[in-house]
Amino acid sequence: MSDEFRDQVAVVTGAASGIGLTVAQHFASRGARVVGVDRSPEVGAAVATLAGSGHCAIVGDLTDEGAAARIVDDAASAAGTPSILVNSAGVAILDSAVNLSAAAWNATISINLSASFFMAQAVGRLMIEAGYGRIINLASQASVIGLENHVAYSASKAGLLGMTRVLSLEWARSGVTVNCVSPTVVETPLGKAAWAGAKGDAMKELIPVGRFAQPEEIAALIAFLAGSDAGMITGENILIDGGYSTV
Ligand SMILES: NC(=O)c1ccc[n+]([C@@H]2O[C@H](COP(=O)([O-])OP(=O)(O)OC[C@H]3O[C@@H](n4cnc5c(N)ncnc54)[C@H](O)[C@@H]3O)[C@@H](O)[C@H]2O)c1
Repeated sequence: MSDEFRDQVAVVTGAASGIGLTVAQHFASRGARVVGVDRSPEVGAAVATLAGSGHCAIVGDLTDEGAAARIVDDAASAAGTPSILVNSAGVAILDSAVNLSAAAWNATISINLSASFFMAQAVGRLMIEAGYGRIINLASQASVIGLENHVAYSASKAGLLGMTRVLSLEWARSGVTVNCVSPTVVETPLGKAAWAGAKGDAMKELIPVGRFAQPEEIAALIAFLAGSDAGMITGENILIDGGYSTV
């Protein structure tokens, strides 16, 4: 692989698992110093296996008050000013709209939407000062279509699109692009739990390419958006869903 991201610092939330872990591996193998953030202490072991050097792991719950600002301070002290932020930490708590608890709603919005904003705000301030940055938010196909039992998840991901459009407008002249990527089901712990068994088989039938996505396919798109060729793409939501949302 190339060393296109050499001398860049990439902050990746949710780096202990799934898409975040694969994104961290992808950036590290292309020369970036990675700051992996996760509430799971396993992020330490995950970061220790990354290619290259200069990486660091930060354990923290991003829904704690003030967590994003503290984590970004620590990241910048440990690794330098971030030029890339990938907001991948998230949850999928599924229930019907009539049954979903207030706790489940609040927990979903708190990590999927609010924490992504506070991370973007804290990292964005540094990027604006530096005059360059790339922020990529993990939304979902659920940001643009309805899926049964996904009411909180869908609302949180649609909220990310609105946030992304405003940040992209406000920060474009400072060299900072902000985009969303919206996968269909990805074969990660979260994706497998939400789409296990017959429900998953039925879903695959509805996806024109006939399968779920792999984390590496999502990481490759994110790396493109984080790269120097993507400077004219901002405020976008890029579907990576095998055609699901277009049929
Ligand atoms: N897997 C899919 O099918 C799929 C599809 C579309 C979008 N997404 C989105 O991609 C992102 C990553 O999903 P994934 O499949 O890799 O999930 P995952 O469950 O494998 O990983 C999510 C990571 O986020 C961390 N996390 C959760 N809450 C946190 C908190 N409060 N503070 C810090 N870390 C926290 C978890 O510990 C975990 O390591 C999510 O935002 C998800 O909504 C996933």
